Amino acid sequence: MKQKLIAGNWKMNGSLAANAALLGGIQHGLAQAFNGRKAQVAVCVPAAYLSQVQQITQGSGIELGSQDVSAQEQGAYTGEISCAMLKDFGVRYAIVGHSERRQYHAETDALVAAKAQRALAAGITPIVCVGETLAEREAGKTEEVVKRQLAAVIHANGHCISEIVVAYEPVWAIGTGKTATPEQAQAVHAVLRAQLKAATEHSDRVQILYGGSMNAANAAELLAQADIDGGLIGGAALKSADFLTIIAAAAR
Ligand code: 13P
Repeated sequence: MKQKLIAGNWKMNGSLAANAALLGGIQHGLAQAFNGRKAQVAVCVPAAYLSQVQQITQGSGIELGSQDVSAQEQGAYTGEISCAMLKDFGVRYAIVGHSERRQYHAETDALVAAKAQRALAAGITPIVCVGETLAEREAGKTEEVVKRQLAAVIHANGHCISEIVVAYEPVWAIGTGKTATPEQAQAVHAVLRAQLKAATEHSDRVQILYGGSMNAANAAELLAQADIDGGLIGGAALKSADFLTIIAAAAR
């Protein structure tokens, strides 16, 4: 059975001092517990801190991720960061299509698909975020929205789609303390799994993470669902004790 993946998305938080303290706490906890049970652990940090976090986490088993990546290879794209640059810092994962990027930076399904494609070509695993807004859920459009978002990525990436990670993050649950119930989350994860199954014979390999106010108290119940293969954690990833509790719930 595949391991679960717990990825922290630090968003625009942190400082040299705070990052060192947070990672110190996480590494200390990881070294103490778990009795051989395992989960994959990653931290997706602000680009400015990739070098620092690479140095601190080297050899610790904590994988490094970015929160975005350019769809372009290189050149006159001020402010953008390329896959090759991320690779220089040992980056394994790149979040693409986070709802905050879609909302505040007008990222389209097509752009998100292009970013995923660029990452895959460079050997970086894209964590492709999909999720509906509250208005879309209330209008009964959840399935339609997440399928449209994932379809763009499937269309652009063909059989390589089995190499991505998907994160279902209902927009109404992000940073609100309002978590999807395990049943609500599982229902959408099952839809996404079926969509992947139609696209690749290796769909079981794809980890589908849940994100949106996942925390130390609700992680175990969410992670017990059949198609929830891990979590993409915002606020609770900034506290080592909470992050460790979520990792423990995912480890087996
Ligand atoms: P919160 O866990 O803070 O709700 O954030 C979730 C998220 O957006 C992770 O990418």
